[in-house]
Amino acid sequence: MAASLALREKMYRAYLEFFEVAESKRRWNMFNDVPWEALGSSIGSERKTARIEIFCAEELYLPDYSAGGVELSRSIFGTAWFQACWSYEESKHGLVFREYLTRSGLRSEAEVAAFEERVLSKVWRLPFQTRRQMACYGALQEAATYIAYKAQKDIAASEGDKVLEAIFFYLSRDEAAHAGFYRAAVELELAEDRGGTLLDLAYVIANFKMPGDGLIPDYQERLRTSGAGISPRMFMEHALVPTLRKLNTSRAELKGAMAQVNVAAERGYVPAAG
Ligand SMILES: [Fe+2]
Ligand SMILES: [Fe+2]
Repeated sequence: MAASLALREKMYRAYLEFFEVAESKRRWNMFNDVPWEALGSSIGSERKTARIEIFCAEELYLPDYSAGGVELSRSIFGTAWFQACWSYEESKHGLVFREYLTRSGLRSEAEVAAFEERVLSKVWRLPFQTRRQMACYGALQEAATYIAYKAQKDIAASEGDKVLEAIFFYLSRDEAAHAGFYRAAVELELAEDRGGTLLDLAYVIANFKMPGDGLIPDYQERLRTSGAGISPRMFMEHALVPTLRKLNTSRAELKGAMAQVNVAAERGYVPAAG
């Protein structure tokens, strides 16, 4: 379904707003803003390394995320340019984790190279097939990533690990901004077609999983043992419920849409392009 002129215009404005804040308040420099000189004071452990590795692995699928995102977003200026900016910001995430692993000595260059090869031997594919569904997915996935990184920032602060505290501060702030843009995009889609967008949102929630789930070996187990994961309750309370509230929808409204999704699924319906 082609986007209306009004939607394209509003998406452009939403991107302009996002980009202005990013350029004037949120830019960070990996070389100058991370206190690498404090690396010596942080205590390394296999558990901490495993945590950083799993975050790094998830960020390493950037080429696949970008390829899928560009394909879906290219027809609208605002979403396409957001995708380009998003890719730049996300590229720093994988890079800073990679640098942390080697500069800290927790992993050698050879180990990181082998790890990277293992991770990228699998290809991430779009979990949903339309721009609108991926905006719903982005709103939830970025919120969940923000929560996970914020929790890591707090752990690093309590352990006196200045380097990781700075890294997770910048990354969590980026992820929160990404969640904000996707939420704004979903709001615009809701204004355009409330029923269809709610149907997509319900469908995405029912089928939600993080990008690394199913790609990174033993993903759930690794999240649990390394302490990198967030609990389903945290996801519900700090990602899903606040997102729905900000989108100005209710559980009842969503439940109605969910029921429609279930009925539709029984009839073999695949949600329409949004
Ligand atoms: Fe990221
Ligand atoms: Fe993000």
